[in-house]
Amino acid sequence: MKFFVDTAEVDQIAELNDLGMVDGVTTNPSLIMKSGRDILEVTKEIADMVEGPVSAEVVALEADAMIAEGRKLAKIADNIAVKVPLTWDGLKACKVLSGEGNMVNVTLCFSANQALLAAKAGATFISPFIGRLDDINLDGMELISDIRQIYDNYGFETQILAASIRSVNHAYLAAMIGSDVMTAPPKVIKQMAEHPLTDKGLESFMADWAKTGQKIL
Ligand code: E4P
Repeated sequence: MKFFVDTAEVDQIAELNDLGMVDGVTTNPSLIMKSGRDILEVTKEIADMVEGPVSAEVVALEADAMIAEGRKLAKIADNIAVKVPLTWDGLKACKVLSGEGNMVNVTLCFSANQALLAAKAGATFISPFIGRLDDINLDGMELISDIRQIYDNYGFETQILAASIRSVNHAYLAAMIGSDVMTAPPKVIKQMAEHPLTDKGLESFMADWAKTGQKIL
C-alpha cells in the first residue's frame, strides 16, 4: 500500500520523505488554511520535494470553473493530481481533466456508487473518507471493501485512496482490505511504529545491558 501524507506542513512531509515513507501528498482547502501558506507556492514546494503525486484541490463548484482551476494547478508541476469533489460538476471536470492527461483525485466520496461514477469518469484516484463515515456511526471500512470489490469486478484502474484516516487501526484495516493507497496525517504514520511491547522489551534490554557495564562505542 502506498503512503500519501495528508498535510500541507512542509517540514513534516520532509521528515517522512527522508525516511522513504512518502509516496505522495494530499492537501485540501482546510489543510492549506491551517498551513497559512499560499496554495500555489506551498504546492510547488511540496511537488518539488516529493516524487509521487501531490493532490491540490479546486475550489470552484461549477464544472467549467473547476476545469480552469484544475488546469492552473496542474501547471505547477508534472506530479500534480488535481482534486475535484464528487459532485456531478466534479465528475464532468474529472472527465475533461483526465482526458487532457492530468492525474485526477476525486474526493469527498461516501458511497460505492459515487466511486463507480468516478472510475467511469476516468479518475486516477478515488478518495473515500473513512473517518468522517465513522464520525456518523457508519462503517468506513465497509465502503473501502465494497469499492475494492466493484473495481475488481470490472477491472477499473482507478486507485482506491483511503482518506480521512484517523488511527493506526484505520491504516491496518485499509491495508488488509487492499486499498491501493492511504493518506494519513504524519502523526498517524509515526504512531504505526509504536507498540507497548516494543517499549517494554526495550526497557528490559536496557536494564540488563546496564548490568553488563559494557559499551559498544
Ligand atoms: C483527503 O484527501 C483529505 O484531505 C483528508 O483525508 C480528510 O481527512 P479528515 O476527515 O480527517 O479531515
